Amino acid sequence: MSTSRSRLGVIFFTVFIDLVGFGIVLPCLGCHALDGAGGRIGPDLSRLPATSAPVFIAAMIRDPQMARPGSLMPKTPMPEQTLELVASYLSARRPPAAAPPPRLAGGAPVATGTIPRDAPSLYAALCAPCHGAHGGGDGFNARYLPVAPAVHADRAAMAQRSDDRLFDAIAGGGAVLGKNVRMPAFGATLSRKEIHALVRYIRELCRCEGPAWSR
Ligand code: HEC
Ligand code: HEC
Repeated sequence: MSTSRSRLGVIFFTVFIDLVGFGIVLPCLGCHALDGAGGRIGPDLSRLPATSAPVFIAAMIRDPQMARPGSLMPKTPMPEQTLELVASYLSARRPPAAAPPPRLAGGAPVATGTIPRDAPSLYAALCAPCHGAHGGGDGFNARYLPVAPAVHADRAAMAQRSDDRLFDAIAGGGAVLGKNVRMPAFGATLSRKEIHALVRYIRELCRCEGPAWSR
C-alpha cells in the first residue's frame, strides 16, 4: 500500500463515521459490535483476529458464502469503493500478528457446512437471533439493537402487513422501508422462492393473513 499516513487517517475517519453513524447505511452493527456498540451475532469488528488476512476480510464483505461456505452473514451489496474502505479500516484495527489472537467477543458461532434451505431452518439460523425462535421479538441479540425487532408472532401487527411488504423487508432490509437499517437485506443471499417461503412462515407464526386488499 502506497497510501500516506495522513491519507489513511482521513480514510479511517470517514469509515469510522460511516460504520457507526452509518448504522444508517450498512447493517453491520445489527450483528457485529464495534467499540462496544452493536450486535453479538458475529465477531467484534474492532478486534478481528490477526489471523484474518485483509484479503479474507474484503472477500468476506464482498460475498460471505464464497469466502466462508455456510456463513450466516448475508451479502450486503455496496459500491466497491465503500467495500475497500470498510475492509482496510477493519484490517488496520487488527492486533499486530505477533500478539496472541484475541478471543472473539460474543462467542460468534462460526458456521460450518450449509444451512438446510427450508423456511423453518432458515428462520432459526438467520432470523431467530434477533426475532426469537418463535417470532416473539426476543432473540438473544434483540437487546443489542437500537429498535426492537418486529414481533412476527403478533397477530394484530402482522395482519396489517401485506405479503409484499414482508417480502420487501426481507429482500431489501430495513433501509428500503425507511425502517431501522440493522434489519439486514437478504435479497442477495436468499432466492426469491426462499424469501416467499419465509413470508409464508411468518404467516404461520402470526396465524394471520395480510389485509384483505392485499390478498
Ligand atoms: C445478519 C448478521 C450479520 C450482518 C448483517 C453482518 N455480518 Fe459479518 N458476520 C456475521 C457472522 C455470524 C460472522 C461469523 C460466522 C459466519 O461467517 O457465519 C460474520 C463474519 C464477518 C467477518 C469475518 C470475521 C473473521 O475474521 O472471521 C467480517 C470481516 C465481517 N463479518 C464483516 C461484516 C461487515 C463489514 C458487515 C456489514 C457490511 C457485516 N459483517 C454484516 C454476521 C453478520
Ligand atoms: C440483526 C438483527 C436482525 C436479523 C438477523 C433479522 N432482522 Fe428482521 N428486523 C430487525 C429489526 C431491528 C426490525 C425492526 C425495524 C424497525 O422497526 O425499524 C426488523 C423488522 C423485520 C420485518 C418487519 C418489517 C415491517 O413491516 O415492519 C420483517 C418482515 C423482518 N424483520 C423479517 C426478518 C427475517 C425473515 C429475517 C431472517 C431472514 C430477519 N428479519 C432477520 C432485525 C433483524
